[in-house]
Amino acid sequence: MKDKKTFYITTPIYYPSDKLHIGHSYTTVAADAMARFKRLMGFDVMFLTGTDEHGQKIERVARENGMTPKEYTDHIVAGIKDLWRTLDISYDSFIRTTDQNHVEVVQKIFKKLYDQGDIYKSEYEGWYCTPCESFWTEIQLSEGKCPDCDGGVELVKEESYFFKMSKYQDRLIKHIEEHDEFIQPNSRKNEMLNNFLRPGLDDLCVSRTSFKWGIPVTFDEGHVIYVWIDALSNYITALGYLTEDDSRFKQYWPADVHLVGKEIVRFHTIIWPIMLMALGLELPKQIFGHGWLILEGGKMSKSKGNVVDPVVLEKRYGVDALRYFLLREVPFGSDGVFSNEALVNRINSDLANDLGNLLSRTVAMIDKYFDGVIPEPGVGADVDQELIQMAENTPKKVEELMDELLFSNALAEIWKLVSRSNKYIDETTPWILAKSQDQKPRLGTVLYNLAEALRIISVLISPFMIATPDRIQEQLGIKQNEDLKAWESLKGFGRIPAGIRVQKGEAIFPRLDVEKELKELEKNLTTADGQGEQADRTDDQNKQNDKDSGESPEITIDDFAKVDLRVARVISAEKVKKSHKLLKLQLKVGEETRQVVSGIADQYSPEELVGKDLILVANLKPVKLRGNLSEGMILAASDEKGKLALVTIDSPIESGSGVS
Ligand code: MSP
Repeated sequence: MKDKKTFYITTPIYYPSDKLHIGHSYTTVAADAMARFKRLMGFDVMFLTGTDEHGQKIERVARENGMTPKEYTDHIVAGIKDLWRTLDISYDSFIRTTDQNHVEVVQKIFKKLYDQGDIYKSEYEGWYCTPCESFWTEIQLSEGKCPDCDGGVELVKEESYFFKMSKYQDRLIKHIEEHDEFIQPNSRKNEMLNNFLRPGLDDLCVSRTSFKWGIPVTFDEGHVIYVWIDALSNYITALGYLTEDDSRFKQYWPADVHLVGKEIVRFHTIIWPIMLMALGLELPKQIFGHGWLILEGGKMSKSKGNVVDPVVLEKRYGVDALRYFLLREVPFGSDGVFSNEALVNRINSDLANDLGNLLSRTVAMIDKYFDGVIPEPGVGADVDQELIQMAENTPKKVEELMDELLFSNALAEIWKLVSRSNKYIDETTPWILAKSQDQKPRLGTVLYNLAEALRIISVLISPFMIATPDRIQEQLGIKQNEDLKAWESLKGFGRIPAGIRVQKGEAIFPRLDVEKELKELEKNLTTADGQGEQADRTDDQNKQNDKDSGESPEITIDDFAKVDLRVARVISAEKVKKSHKLLKLQLKVGEETRQVVSGIADQYSPEELVGKDLILVANLKPVKLRGNLSEGMILAASDEKGKLALVTIDSPIESGSGVS
């Protein structure tokens, strides 16, 4: 155990919510796949997750539910643990920031930083948004409201402790510059350096007196430790840092990777390393900021009412299909659009058609031509070499891609082997070989190679899917043989023993009826459940979601004529503050100028739009998006991966011209 290489991976600790949605599951499933992969590779893995339970919001929600904050979070945390069980999350440790040990160590950390002069007392004044637990300066507010959730903010003025961030900023810049792998993907690294570190850091407010539900500052009654020193410390308190038994801390720290969503990259790559520097500890090796899983209407959020419930999907398709989809569909660093259609199509094409058919065809042929016993390989042919080489090379490629957290690419690589194996069946045509007794040795080789390729595939997918490898191995008759499931067994083709009896089973992923599934799944998009529906969820976004259902009602030419489509020229364009998706465009429509806010910032920069002639829905009811008036909508095509292409005209024409 001691001389095994260790691997320490963490997810963020989640705010207690009675409905963690599929976006939250995404981070945890990814961390789980990584942890399982490293275990398979022989590492001694520590996979940590947990809950972030303090703050004014929890205090308020608990009161509304007639509970103490701890009673409330106990109840919610039990639900979160249930969800992780459902999704087969193999965490090694679960930390709650209400754990006595965590509380005590955070107090020690705070005191230590205070004693060494890194924390000092002053006065804080700022605008505070309770649901987002964020402070904003006057200038950051959007029409007097929180720029993140558009909710009300309150002016807070209170005595607070501050953490001297600026003292460590140059050391941190140097560290980031010298360690390319520290912040990944690279784009996030540049953002941190250029937008935050190089312009200079403000000291950070780290205590509050206006609420009680937090870890008390031991030496100043009335102050509770505010958010980040409490939350971020979890990564070391969970290992016993500053306790009598700090053996796990010594064993696993520094972390190999903190997986975090892109909106908390800043806290993890600036505040956290500076805290660690101040404590004289090593920095984590990597912080990986992944993108969001979004719906076409924007980021999933309970307050917007557009969340997808992972439990509904798990019940319908099983945990493996869901895990596969989450990790395959979206490249990990980027945002990815979740759509029911993409989910059902992935299950049908990759799981039912490619993998499922490969298994059922192979087992059925061994059953039919060799009485259910895996044959000895006999006569080889050139075509075998391509399959064998790919099977031998895939593990290395998967390992390299996983080391860069490229889950989707790693799965794509494994699926190349699945496709190659299916192609091998078509090329070798076993059903024709079976017609001639002379060809029996050749047929034996073909079916042996297929069984071995499937065994290799079952091992390669085992970090991503949990029951499926077992089911494949059961049908291949090797379920009891642990050696054949190990990473080691992937070295060299030909480990599956001939003479083993296969067991024909049911289709591992039955094909789905797309239309029926889409109708059923439409119910899965929950509607707002009372938590302050966000004002900027517009009608057209709702309609966009309805489009997901795959159903478009028939309309008459008169219906169509009600839509006033016009050619509009982009005069200027700019990003909407605090929004990753929205651009604000000024459009010339004939003599008129119109302002339109459009969710295309991911794929179009303001500069490239100026001068373009686009198609505007001119008589759409105006709405406000993030406080900006939007008078119409521009047309764009989008594919199921969320790629957009704006609709333009193919030769110059006066702006304002009608389109029909
Ligand atoms: N409590 C803080 C983290 C403190 S870590 C020291 C927090 N909690 S959270 O519950 O709001 O979010 C937890 C994680 O879920 C974050 O990494 C966040 O990015 C991720 N996600 C929440 N919604 C998501 C999507 N729609 N898509 C992908 N990830 C999402 O932040």
